[in-house]
Amino acid sequence: MISAASPSVVTQAPQLHRKSKTVLVILAILAGLVGASVALVLAAESGLLGRYAQWRVRVETSRFEFNRLYSQPDPPFEQAPNEFLVRTVRSLPRGAALDIAAGQGRNAVFLAQEGWQVTAFDISDKGLEIASQTARRDGVKLTTFRSSARNFDYGHDRWDLVLLIYAPISYDDPSLMKRICDSVKPGGYVIADTPIAMHQPEDVLPRIFGDLKRGELPTLFPGFTVVSYTESLDTAEWFPQEMLMGRLLAKKR
Ligand SMILES: C[S@@+](CC[C@H](N)C(=O)[O-])C[C@H]1O[C@@H](n2cnc3c(N)ncnc32)[C@H](O)[C@@H]1O
Repeated sequence: MISAASPSVVTQAPQLHRKSKTVLVILAILAGLVGASVALVLAAESGLLGRYAQWRVRVETSRFEFNRLYSQPDPPFEQAPNEFLVRTVRSLPRGAALDIAAGQGRNAVFLAQEGWQVTAFDISDKGLEIASQTARRDGVKLTTFRSSARNFDYGHDRWDLVLLIYAPISYDDPSLMKRICDSVKPGGYVIADTPIAMHQPEDVLPRIFGDLKRGELPTLFPGFTVVSYTESLDTAEWFPQEMLMGRLLAKKR
């Protein structure tokens, strides 16, 4: 009896060994992937990568972070439409609207409910999935694209309204800003509500996505009339703190 049981005990050992080897290999691969990602982000932030590679790493890091945020059952940001948008847009004639970096669609769906034909884009597929679900639930039409601000095809004289609400785009990229300006129809509007001087001190840290200097936002829309612009310390809808918020309504001449 003993001799019959012994071989089965002996044959277990190599199996266990193989399993733990497989686990070790998987752990090593995961550690390698995490290490490589951290190294890439550090290299991008320290300027060791080229401009395109830096941008790519930032976009992918943002996509990952925002997908994670939008997947939370109770995300820590305001889910009602932006307060400045709500009180500004009702005086504007309805038409085609573009929501840049629309997130989970709180503003895009609101505009669609108000009778606008809305297109929304964002890098976060999870955000766009929620936006489409909400639009379907509320019985309104919403066109969505997964795209970065840099790659989106804005068109020419196409939009009656462009939204830049907490949109972390490269405001310091003149070619991007020109494409956005050109895409607005004459007589169309830009509504922006965005943090100013978020990454202080500005002269020490390199400017990153979404950074704007004090007084800079209205200067980024040449060919537009500034209908109103304010900068004020306010409770931010996307961050659990007071921030200097820039709020712009500009009309294309
Ligand atoms: C702070 S949230 C604001 C979302 C929405 N505008 C709002 O007010 O609720 C920023 C959004 O920008 C998106 N985003 C970040 N970088 C982007 C880029 N380069 N191009 C397009 N979207 C971007 C993120 O996925 C995220 O949904």
